[in-house]
Amino acid sequence: MSRRTRIAFKASVWVLCLLPLVVLAYRAVTGDLGANPISFVTNWLGQWTFRLLLAALALTPIRILFGISWQVSLRRLVGLFAFAYACLHFCVWIVVDHFFDWHQMGADILKRRYITVGMLALTLLVPLAVTSTNAMLKRLGGMAWRRLHRLVYVVGVLASLHFLWLAKKGRTDQYLYATILTLLLGIRAWDAVRRALRKRRQQQTAGAPGLAEAPH
Ligand code: HEM
Repeated sequence: MSRRTRIAFKASVWVLCLLPLVVLAYRAVTGDLGANPISFVTNWLGQWTFRLLLAALALTPIRILFGISWQVSLRRLVGLFAFAYACLHFCVWIVVDHFFDWHQMGADILKRRYITVGMLALTLLVPLAVTSTNAMLKRLGGMAWRRLHRLVYVVGVLASLHFLWLAKKGRTDQYLYATILTLLLGIRAWDAVRRALRKRRQQQTAGAPGLAEAPH
């Protein structure tokens, strides 16, 4: 892919990731936030946080399944957008839901398990966002950086629990998100096992006597 195409592609991803915010702003200006605007904004931002998280997690499985790899370079951008949406979602909770009542917020985190896991998910996203730069990758070293960034799988599971536990009876989209996450993590696990088996076979072949040395 040429440099120009790559830049155009990244610009479109920026536009796509910002679009939910533009739509939300438009709905706010036109008074189209439903009967409970606070709940609407919280849920809208929560939904987009999860969608972007799943999108970031899908880029590597796409490479594993279809052998296409250009999209993998978008992981950082999409992941950072997921983090930005999570922060906005959290800010609505702090400012609009609790209006900086730290005592009430602390009680809410301890009392409601879906808030506890949501908080944990956001907390785990912080070191990932902070270390997402090339300079941090260099500083930590590839192996440690990759190990740290595996936390994103834990974030995915916590986000799923957050949604499963908060969803009211009669809803089904929380199961859809959990199923997509399970599929994406399953593909990665299958690929990791496949690569480990291949490596072991190669080591065994390298260790076995060659045809020329084989006893007659
Ligand atoms: C990675 C982090 C997070 C993700 C992916 C996420 C995702 C979601 C999703 C998908 C929803 C449901 C939207 C809907 O009902 O349509 C939601 C709702 C909500 N989230 Fe989060 N969330 C995260 C972090 C947090 C944090 C840190 C807090 C607060 C401490 C929080 C508080 C809430 C609240 C209060 C609701 C609304 C619950 C209700 O309608 O009763 N979330 N979130």
